[in-house]
Amino acid sequence: MIHSLIEEAQAINWYEQRISVEKDREAKAIMENAQKEEFIHFAMDPEFLLRKKDKWRTAAKNILFKPGDIPENAEKAADKIE
Ligand SMILES: [Fe+2]
Repeated sequence: MIHSLIEEAQAINWYEQRISVEKDREAKAIMENAQKEEFIHFAMDPEFLLRKKDKWRTAAKNILFKPGDIPENAEKAADKIE
């Protein structure tokens, strides 16, 4: 599943690179549509992993969707991971 997460992120990045240089509006729209699917694919993988492993879940709970400074939140998360 970790490799699947990596591959979905790579797919998002490949589309990002292609979209950024594409001149044809229709081709760009098609790739943007395809990239949306990759975001959905990507989101399922960490959800699965977070459900399976306490350390990932603890880190995510203390960093993701939290206001404030990201590195400071990460330091707090590190203190909570055993
Ligand atoms: Fe995908």
